[in-house]
Amino acid sequence: MKSIIDILTFYKGLGVEYMRSINIHTKEDIFRQLKQEAEHCRRCELYKTKTKTVFGEGSFDASLMFVGEAPGKDEDIQGRPFVGRAGKLLRQLLDDVGIDKNDIYIANCLKCRPPANRDPLPDELVACFGFLKKQIELIKPKVIATLGRYSTYELTNQKAALGMLRGRVFDYHGIAVVPLYHPAYLLRNPKAIDIFLDDLKKIKSLLEQ
Ligand code: URA
Repeated sequence: MKSIIDILTFYKGLGVEYMRSINIHTKEDIFRQLKQEAEHCRRCELYKTKTKTVFGEGSFDASLMFVGEAPGKDEDIQGRPFVGRAGKLLRQLLDDVGIDKNDIYIANCLKCRPPANRDPLPDELVACFGFLKKQIELIKPKVIATLGRYSTYELTNQKAALGMLRGRVFDYHGIAVVPLYHPAYLLRNPKAIDIFLDDLKKIKSLLEQ
């Protein structure tokens, strides 16, 4: 490999007298910066009551991105998405259909927990959307699986009941979006697990196409 001196000497020989330095930001750098921005964000009131910001987790080059609603109690304590019962069920079901957990990224619409797990407010969703948008732009997944009605509405603009939308394929700036039931719903309605597994199999085949 040539040293920087060799390279500069080569260009000097060509008559180049001045070179401007440029900063090359890697995806990791940009994610780190964005995470820090989210940790200091005051665009809505949730920063006042959160414990930790839950920015997102997984591979920055993931083929599949999951988008949930908002951190719950366990996520708020640990600063990591889907670490509670719903998350454990999600990971188990991914294993059941053979989706590679190293090739996923998990984020939420809201990066801070709403008090007592109340539903996200419209203003909070709008305030936080910029972070999710940027995460999607950087990762450029092949498929986004939206978990529950909030992320489904944000990325598909569809307001129909999830029962009508789940398993269908929508488009978000050229990325396939497949709405899924939220894993917390599956905990309350275990009969819907088979439907969820069918939808995950559909996602798996989209990833393999
Ligand atoms: N529910 C969500 O929507 N997101 C989490 O991170 C945890 C539970």
